[in-house]
Amino acid sequence: MMQFDDLNGKAALVTGASGGLGQHFAELLASHGVAVTLAARRREALEEACARIAAAGGTARAIQMDVSDGGSVAAALSGANFDILVNNAGISGASRALDLEEAEWDRVLDTNLKGVFVVAQAVARGMKASGRGGAIVNIASILGHRVAGNLSAYAASKAGVIQLTKALALEWAREGIRVNALCPGYIETDINRDFFASAAGLDLIKRIPQRRLGRPQELDGALLLLASAAGSYITGSSIEVDGGHLVSSL
Ligand SMILES: NC(=O)c1ccc[n+]([C@@H]2O[C@H](COP(=O)([O-])OP(=O)(O)OC[C@H]3O[C@@H](n4cnc5c(N)ncnc54)[C@H](OP(=O)(O)O)[C@@H]3O)[C@@H](O)[C@H]2O)c1
Repeated sequence: MMQFDDLNGKAALVTGASGGLGQHFAELLASHGVAVTLAARRREALEEACARIAAAGGTARAIQMDVSDGGSVAAALSGANFDILVNNAGISGASRALDLEEAEWDRVLDTNLKGVFVVAQAVARGMKASGRGGAIVNIASILGHRVAGNLSAYAASKAGVIQLTKALALEWAREGIRVNALCPGYIETDINRDFFASAAGLDLIKRIPQRRLGRPQELDGALLLLASAAGSYITGSSIEVDGGHLVSSL
């Protein structure tokens, strides 16, 4: 029997799928027979990702959407009918708290926290209307649990995502909707590869108990668990996948 075979024939929305982890999650779900909708702001990058998924035998379509703009989300997701949502779109921003400008705070919180809420709400309305329920996986971060310098807005937004996950799980359990968070540690992607090759990056890696970065594929087990029937009794939880970073010695 194929593992996670209940995923075959399901429909998923993955936000922030024009690159990085979101694109990886879309490809992963498509490889398990899920029809995936890839959302982000950069249409061309989305179309390229969809073409790659189609070439590998999957089913994918793109929708342009800015998760920080409730109007954009409502227009893109009216009548949404998905079984799975991976709420992955996110930005980091790095400023010292004393220099952090209100506009930057708003940009990070609007994308990472309000964006997760408005997309979850639109998709959950469809899940309720279908009567089939569904699974929502919010991509938070180990910075939702602990802190690092110059990332106050990001850390606050990700802590908010973890708490929001629990609140939505409580309200939507009766609709058959499970809501969980996945908290990655430092995962190597194209965006951060150069930083992790620098002296500061190598120093940071020394503080991870496993002494290395994670690979995107090392998130697959947790993502598939939370998205599939294998996780049917898991809701309101968060799973950390971080090489032990959260338990590093104080
Ligand atoms: N990589 C890591 O080590 C790591 C660790 C912990 C948590 N995470 C979390 O994992 C998620 C993905 O991170 P990543 O490393 O893959 O980052 P990334 O490569 O920068 O990708 C971010 C994605 O989010 C999209 N996005 C940003 N703002 C958006 C908006 N307003 N509306 C719609 N889409 C938007 C971007 O697409 P467009 O620019 O086309 O809109 C892009 O597809 C984030 O939530 C991040 O906080 C990552």
